[in-house]
Amino acid sequence: MTSSRHFHNVEQYLLPADADETQRLSLQHRVVVRAFGGKLWSGPPSLQALQGADVLDSGTGNGIWLSDLERRLAEGGVAPGHLIGVDLSDRQFPSASPRRLATLQVADILNLPAEWTGRFSLVHQRLLVAGLSGAQWKTCLGQLLRVLQPDTGCVELIETGHFAHPYPAGSPGDVLMRVLRQTFAKRGLVFDILARLGDWLAEAGFVDVAVTTVEIPMSRRREDGHEAGENFFRGLLGLQEAAVQSGAIASRQDYIELMDRVRAQWDADDTCNTFAAFSARRPAT
Ligand SMILES: C[S@@+](CC[C@H](N)C(=O)[O-])C[C@H]1O[C@@H](n2cnc3c(N)ncnc32)[C@H](O)[C@@H]1O
Repeated sequence: MTSSRHFHNVEQYLLPADADETQRLSLQHRVVVRAFGGKLWSGPPSLQALQGADVLDSGTGNGIWLSDLERRLAEGGVAPGHLIGVDLSDRQFPSASPRRLATLQVADILNLPAEWTGRFSLVHQRLLVAGLSGAQWKTCLGQLLRVLQPDTGCVELIETGHFAHPYPAGSPGDVLMRVLRQTFAKRGLVFDILARLGDWLAEAGFVDVAVTTVEIPMSRRREDGHEAGENFFRGLLGLQEAAVQSGAIASRQDYIELMDRVRAQWDADDTCNTFAAFSARRPAT
């Protein structure tokens, strides 16, 4: 079967990297930041403490988090060091602008440059749940620990727990979860990531692990749910190719029809998408 959407040339990552997905990432940024009370990250350091500091956005997508950070730093009168975003591909990067401080570059977060050891004051990474197997998460956390400054450098990981959402048995959401768990299993991806990240951060050597959890309403009946529902609906539609390839559902049409029923369920049941932000620090030794 051929697809009209463009995907990364990698085995692991499930979502497309086309114009629609790039635009959706900006919508998603608004939805997620609003859910966390307007904050770009939940733990230390403060915005003011980023004076002269280097910041890394790991798996940056279209770089929307970094552009927002850049704007806030400018408004706060804070002059950072280098703001760097890395991704597997540059397909979603915006075209270069002379006014932009941040540098976006192609790099694998499983193998960050050796010369970055001990460099960053803050590393942010959001929504890699559809990109990393359990073993890769552990490698990734080791890499993020390595590139943080000892003693003061902090990481912020933001993920969704929706793939483990307890929908009523037999409901459209429950069927979708079964399809997506099979899709994830085929690639070794971790559907219940929120239940694991705290322990994995500690095992990787991080300290001061803290978690902030929020519920994001997705029902169109709620004023605040409309945009979020639209975003997560479009995001989940992006998994159709992977779901069909895994054999979990017969066709893309079947998947789209299932998603329509799931969205109606979100409206009727006032379903929320659980998100969590994990913050942690690299210890001195
Ligand atoms: C769902 S998007 C989220 C993008 C961005 N973090 C945000 O929240 O807007 C996940 C991104 O991670 C990238 N990615 C997946 N695996 C990666 C890897 N091993 N190294 C670098 N980037 C990766 C994908 O290419 C994609 O752009």
